Amino acid sequence: MNDRHPPTKETLLTTDVSVAADCIRSGGLVAFPTETVYGLGANALDSDAVARVFVAKGRPANNPLIVHVADFEGVRSLSSSVPEYAESFMEAFFPGPLTLVLPRDPKVPYGTTAGLETVAVRMPDHPMALALIQQSGVFVAAPSANRSGRPSPTAWEDVYEDLNGRIDVILKGKPTKYGLESTVVDCTGEFPMILRPGGVSLEDLLLVHSQTAYSTSAALAAKSPGTAHRHYQPNAQVILVDHSRSLNLPEDAAFIGFSGGETARLRFEAVDVADYAHHLFSFFRQCEKEGIRTIYCEKVAPFGMGRALMDRLERASS
Ligand code: TXA
Ligand code: MG
Repeated sequence: MNDRHPPTKETLLTTDVSVAADCIRSGGLVAFPTETVYGLGANALDSDAVARVFVAKGRPANNPLIVHVADFEGVRSLSSSVPEYAESFMEAFFPGPLTLVLPRDPKVPYGTTAGLETVAVRMPDHPMALALIQQSGVFVAAPSANRSGRPSPTAWEDVYEDLNGRIDVILKGKPTKYGLESTVVDCTGEFPMILRPGGVSLEDLLLVHSQTAYSTSAALAAKSPGTAHRHYQPNAQVILVDHSRSLNLPEDAAFIGFSGGETARLRFEAVDVADYAHHLFSFFRQCEKEGIRTIYCEKVAPFGMGRALMDRLERASS
């Protein structure tokens, strides 16, 4: 444990980036907004600070963290070698919802990479996140700021609900733009391989590198141990339904999708896939608060952002 930072009692809520930056620099834990979901940040090169992130979240130690940087130099500093195609992805998509898995520079502790020889790096497209990284003067390791196994937080209130009293500071921003996490791409092989679909789609990546592909499940298990864990599960049963199916909803049911489920007690009708993704996790949390027992979710076509949305829906329903 980090003796510069005894366990937190009261979590400070603030909009002041400099307060949050001071906290990170001195080994503390700060939740902050990004364009995808809220992250729980700590100094990525401080093993003690990073260990506290795992404790606060209840996160399995074999699930590595993404390190957040404010510029391209940060990426090059954290990795022992950045392949040309990864540089092309940076040019095209940074800052943005894309995480690159690269060979680790020796200065990145194994606590951050969960013992792996690779490090995941991303540059968030959010002014508060970038200011926090710059003002703290350190690289910021940050998983999503939820208790492990819970839906990712898309508003600061969600972070408060899960982590109040377990972390030092919540940097209050607006609800996040995407609502789903970044795309994770392995850049350690000859060709880029998607480990987790997210805000940047396969179709987007193919425009930059034509041999980008989804990983096979065997490659995924080897490259990204975290994907094996329980994820995104609300305290209600999640059932995926086809668009065409007419629903006979039980009492205490909720529905999220484009059309149908008119008799649901709680219902969110999305205008498009982005709107659906944007509201999914907050809808799950709202359903929990209202005691909903079953959540019916309409399936979407697995293209573009739809692929990431289906990935989260399938995990939530498994
Ligand atoms: O949008 C996001 O990515 C958010 C915001 C806060 O940046 N962060 C996020 O972190 O979703 P987390 O910890 O919930 O998910 C990180 C994912 C996990 O699936 C983890 O296994 C994978 O990235 N990952 C991290 N480091 C890795 C590495 N070295 N190799 C392979 N996968 C890695
Ligand atoms: Mg997460």
